[in-house]
Amino acid sequence: MKQQTNKFRKALALLCCAVILPACTNEKKSFITGNVDFAVGQTKLMLQATGDPTGNNYPRTMKNNGRLSTTNMYDWTPGFFPGSLWFLYELTNDTLWRHEAEKWTHSLEPLKTFTGHHDLGFMMYCSYGNALRLAPKPGYADIIIRSAESLTTRFDERTQAIKSWNGGKNWDGVIWYYPVIVDNMMNLEMLFAATRLSGDRRFSDIAVTHANTTMKNHIREDYSTYHVIDFDTITGAAANKATAQGFSDNSTWARGQAWMIYGFTMMYRETLDTTYLDTAVGLADFYLAHLPEDLIPVWDFNAGEEGYVPGKNSNAVRIQEKPRDTSAAAIVCSALFELQNYAPDKSYHDYAVKMLHSLASPNYRAQLGENANFLIKHCVGSIPHNAEIDKPLVYADYYFLEALTRYKNSSLK
Ligand code: GLY
Repeated sequence: MKQQTNKFRKALALLCCAVILPACTNEKKSFITGNVDFAVGQTKLMLQATGDPTGNNYPRTMKNNGRLSTTNMYDWTPGFFPGSLWFLYELTNDTLWRHEAEKWTHSLEPLKTFTGHHDLGFMMYCSYGNALRLAPKPGYADIIIRSAESLTTRFDERTQAIKSWNGGKNWDGVIWYYPVIVDNMMNLEMLFAATRLSGDRRFSDIAVTHANTTMKNHIREDYSTYHVIDFDTITGAAANKATAQGFSDNSTWARGQAWMIYGFTMMYRETLDTTYLDTAVGLADFYLAHLPEDLIPVWDFNAGEEGYVPGKNSNAVRIQEKPRDTSAAAIVCSALFELQNYAPDKSYHDYAVKMLHSLASPNYRAQLGENANFLIKHCVGSIPHNAEIDKPLVYADYYFLEALTRYKNSSLK
């Protein structure tokens, strides 16, 4: 009897391997193919709408009339569209996408000497970083090193941090002297690349110093985060803990938390320092504990709650609303595909897959030809600024495609 039971178990295990696992693999394959096909069709329409890069036509969002809204290259987001084109090349191996990605990437070269704000990492590494990874050309390395030099002009020994925005009167009347925002963690990846490419350790040393300052000042005990810390330029101390895009100074803005999860996961990859891994895990666990069932966060985890007081000039009409922010979801989804490689808790992969399916569902993914030809709907740019609410955003598409690529490359189902 026992022998027969064992035989039955073995047969069942074989059946699982032969039938169920391939079925899962096929499910994964068709999910990826379906999304890639959609992204290819939608992005071809986007390219028809933009024409060739002019320096002024980087896709960003959708206007209220449904038409495409673009920026010039000096805004913080021009690197994402070239980056998305690189992911399409990686996902399809079709040289059409390489040609387009090269065109849009090369158009950003003048930014290598730009020092006007901290977003050089987004601008130059989502574009040239992917270019170097997928189709290296002479000159790319120098452009990345030069961009890293520009970014590090914003580092100061007193504050031990890279200044995010220039000081002065903030949009709601508050004066900031040395604002450093959680988003800045994302710019550090380019500094590690610059050290690898140049042999100059100054870049990665600055990245580590900045990350340590962020870890000390922006993260609360429960691993929630402040958006902005304003530093005293004389003593270097954290003088003011605030928000610019969140609900309240002491709330947790969902996209800020997303940048931090991604940023500290990257810090662990680059340094293998387990303090960063523990930090990434703490930040991710806080985020996951605050999600609704479909895993797409409300734009700020404390929006409308008692004890969280919106800034005096916050957009009073809409600040109490609770729209979801798919851009935060896409960033975290991509980050968790990486974090699961390092963290012992394998549920991060399952969360990432569920998030990707949620983003790709009809609730959040556009139909061909709608959404001004962006892929993902229902993002939130900034509620306090009354800007880009319930709209597509180019960076949601970028991280959605990166997540799709990471899922495709993962050996897990
Ligand atoms: N880095 C700006 C934002 O996330 O809106």
